[in-house]
Amino acid sequence: MNLVLLGPPGVGKGTQAGKISQYLNIPHISTGDILREAVKRGTPLGLKARHYMEKGELVPDEIVISIIKERIQENDCQKGFVLDGFPRTVVQAEALEKVLSEFGRAINVALYIEADEEEIIRRLSGRRTCKECGQIYHMIFNLPKDGKRCELCGGELFQREDDKVETVRNRFRVYLEKTLPLVNFYNKKKLLKKIDGARSAEEVFNEIKRVLSQK
Ligand code: AP5
Repeated sequence: MNLVLLGPPGVGKGTQAGKISQYLNIPHISTGDILREAVKRGTPLGLKARHYMEKGELVPDEIVISIIKERIQENDCQKGFVLDGFPRTVVQAEALEKVLSEFGRAINVALYIEADEEEIIRRLSGRRTCKECGQIYHMIFNLPKDGKRCELCGGELFQREDDKVETVRNRFRVYLEKTLPLVNFYNKKKLLKKIDGARSAEEVFNEIKRVLSQK
């Protein structure tokens, strides 16, 4: 199954993509994670992306489109994939459609997870991520067992640079302007499924499983 996850920053796309990936045994592809890794390594891609990400702006379409074009052609994507954070503009969605159609494939469902801005700020201000394996925690809603280190691999937890309140507000503005039109885009294609994200991560996942079972 080829899935797209849509929704505002911090609504839980990464959290749910991880669960879906395990449940369906398909790769979780996050453009945010790929770009952050490139920034960390100081690669040419990272150098180009860094200043957009720090301000909460979108990295130019042509850069992220070329990342995804390559990634979805890898072997592990043959059975499907869950895209988290891509597409984020109509141009990206159209490019995705085009590249998939070249291989006789298409998006099967776009899950749109919703929550309001204040809930998002609460979630992002408490988010911590494992430096080693990328597992996502929250200092109130999903604390690791010892409160400090990743319970999967023992890695150190860190707070993302772009999770400062002002940057989060800008990311939300950018989301409303550039990404929200995708709701209409996928709705017109009858691929959109709305998910209420203002519930616990387990409840959200149960709803997603229910939707996927009908596909
Ligand atoms: P990206 O990494 O994609 O960030 P984002 O879309 O803003 O989403 P987040 O990763 O912040 O949040 P999420 O929805 O995954 O939530 P999470 O599960 O972590 O992108 C970062 C930047 O990269 C962009 O600003 C842009 O510059 C660039 N970029 C990336 N893709 C791009 C593209 N396609 N085009 C252009 N630029 C691109 O959850 C958040 C917190 O809440 C966690 O602590 C979690 O534990 C907690 N939580 C999750 N679910 C629940 C729940 N149900 N209840 C309580 N807490 C919860």
